[in-house]
Amino acid sequence: MFDSKQKIETLIEAMPYIRRFQNKIIVIKYGGHAMVNPDLKQKFAQDIAFLQFSGLRPVVVHGGGPEITQMLSRLGKKSEFIEGLRVTDAEAMEIAQMVLVGKINTDITSAMVRYGAKALGINGKDSNLLMACKLLKKIKKDDKIKEIDLGFVGDVKSINGEFLRTILDSGYIPVIAPLGSDENGQSYNINADTVAGKIAATLQAEKLIMLTDVKGIFENPKDPKSFISELSFDKAYEMILRGAIDGGMIPKINACILALKNQTKAAHIIDGTIPRSILMEIFTDKGFGTMVVK
Ligand SMILES: Nc1ncnc2c1ncn2[C@@H]1O[C@H](COP(=O)(O)OP(=O)(O)O)[C@@H](O)[C@H]1O
Ligand SMILES: [Mg+2]
Repeated sequence: MFDSKQKIETLIEAMPYIRRFQNKIIVIKYGGHAMVNPDLKQKFAQDIAFLQFSGLRPVVVHGGGPEITQMLSRLGKKSEFIEGLRVTDAEAMEIAQMVLVGKINTDITSAMVRYGAKALGINGKDSNLLMACKLLKKIKKDDKIKEIDLGFVGDVKSINGEFLRTILDSGYIPVIAPLGSDENGQSYNINADTVAGKIAATLQAEKLIMLTDVKGIFENPKDPKSFISELSFDKAYEMILRGAIDGGMIPKINACILALKNQTKAAHIIDGTIPRSILMEIFTDKGFGTMVVK
């Protein structure tokens, strides 16, 4: 174990990072395995509280994939995904809202609060945080471009940045469930990666960090040696076109690209299954996960 002197040295080593990130907005997408493992859940909440105590301004956007799928299956409904997006009929929309807001959002927020953080659980429908419209999705099938209907899967039309800044300026961490509604009050389920990217862009965040269930991007996910630590936009577009990046990784990459195009300074995709990966990414200079770069 560390003795007292080593412990203090470790703190001092973190000082340049703590200084550099004072008052800086860090948008974190919380998803994947880190959301279902109870120990990782607690550590995640503690990490976010630590960021707040260190003077950073975290914004958390969470997904709900596995738990929504579980609840749907308990109710006898199957889940279908197209390019990482959940096909959502009216009933699935209702259940997604129950799980995201009634369970996941309150659970995460209260865990942070137990560690002493000041956090506020909200969803995209609060104060029109996320105005949505139906996502029109086109896919390529048999060399033809086809429009497909994903039901109540939404795209972000606009973001109420003023609302988020008010929460941040009051010293609270916004914890956001990725729902939105349109002008008529119709609810939409929005991919949490997409929401995180647009929020980082709106707030011109210092960093966007995507927690997921893999180390980052691989040229070939089956080959650990093909790990990519720095991924350029061009390489990302090319990999998506050729199918080397697919499924749930597509909205993540697109979110990173959008954020970087809009003055977010850095975007990382990191492994949420490694305890403390967020803190390692922020408070050390050891490159962690895949960094998307212009
Ligand atoms: N090139 C790639 N490198 C790494 N993972 C990839 C790649 N292409 C697709 N993936 C998949 O993307 C998944 C992460 O997205 P997703 O399942 O939506 O998780 P999350 O809950 O974190 O959003 C990985 O588990 C992996 O199977
Ligand atoms: Mg996903």
